[in-house]
Amino acid sequence: MPKFPWLHEDGLVFLNHGSFGATPLPVLERQNELRLQIERDPIRFLIDELEGRLDEVRGVVGARFGADPDGIAFVPNPTFAVNSVLASLRLSPGDEIVVTDHGYNACNNAAKHWAERSGAKAVVAEVPFPIRDPAEVTASVVAALGPRTRLVIIDHVTSPTGLVFPVADIVREAEARNIDAIVDGAHAPGMLPLDISSIGAAYYVGALHKWVCAPKGASFVVTRADRRTSMRPAIISHGANSMRTDRSRYALEFDWTGTMDPTPFLAVPAALELLDTFCPDGLTGVMRENRELALAARALLMDRLGLEPPCPESMTGSLVAFPLPDGDPVKLHRRLRDEHHIQVPVMPWPAPGRRVFRVSAQRYNVIDQYETLAAALLVELERERAQRS
Ligand SMILES: Cc1ncc(COP(=O)(O)O)c(C=O)c1O
Repeated sequence: MPKFPWLHEDGLVFLNHGSFGATPLPVLERQNELRLQIERDPIRFLIDELEGRLDEVRGVVGARFGADPDGIAFVPNPTFAVNSVLASLRLSPGDEIVVTDHGYNACNNAAKHWAERSGAKAVVAEVPFPIRDPAEVTASVVAALGPRTRLVIIDHVTSPTGLVFPVADIVREAEARNIDAIVDGAHAPGMLPLDISSIGAAYYVGALHKWVCAPKGASFVVTRADRRTSMRPAIISHGANSMRTDRSRYALEFDWTGTMDPTPFLAVPAALELLDTFCPDGLTGVMRENRELALAARALLMDRLGLEPPCPESMTGSLVAFPLPDGDPVKLHRRLRDEHHIQVPVMPWPAPGRRVFRVSAQRYNVIDQYETLAAALLVELERERAQRS
């Protein structure tokens, strides 16, 4: 099993790259170097140098993922980014925000919270799972758009179900109705070929600590040029009344939301450089090989567990999820971890009592690990059946 430069404990079958990623040792070493630099003179680093250092990383991220560097704001996590967009909207009573039932729970909660503060509401578009065609996603979301829809939040890769949604089609449909979109691409950078500008969304959110393997706390939002003057961070700090004219207010406000550790962002180039060394064609090859492993895992799990395909292969990146028989997701997750040493998410979805499990495929995974999972699931599902009867 591949070990260095990954740090998972010996004997653990780690099939959940999706939740928080995994940071290889050389990237953590780079982060530590940066932390030591801060401590040599925190004032110089954080006051005099930080903006310039963030600009350099913005250039790297923009070039990799097809985004205008001036629109890139670094945030600690996607939830912060989504809350920032929602807090920046001026909603009126009766307005609607459309989300989907595959959306990330935290972001759907945020949509409901910010909507309800203004007498607006969140409308949930239901998308089938298993699914046969990406056009079903577009049709479901479009059917939920109405004259009062102000915003649609659509995941690029869904968290509970691991589906690649047709986000460019959905953004086009929303834009044609003058509706802004947030594409929640938390999983997309480092998993999918990505050209953020061509998707055309008013806001594109990405995490860099997941599939780019940066230290935890590295995420970004790209705001389209025509929305940058109204877009503000969820935390208001010094930038709000800055008299400076050398940088945009957007950059001034997002680059400083209070004292925090900027090293997760500053270590992103080191993470990308390391991923590039893993395959002759760099990150492109890493993404291709991860997807191939995910598809092999999917075939194996379908065969061993007698499962139906969850979606067309075209909707799969490096995550694969399947519905499970109804039951307690927390207990099953714990048994898989404690009895079988497998770390795999079992999530309540689409409603409590119902559940799905999801596997990830990253460089450190090998096909035998999914065989181990299939065998463990057969044991545990049989145990649950026996307990019920
Ligand atoms: C679709 C999606 N959005 C957002 C997030 C980010 O979550 P957080 O802000 O808690 O890091 C995740 C994490 O798994 C996700 O899958």
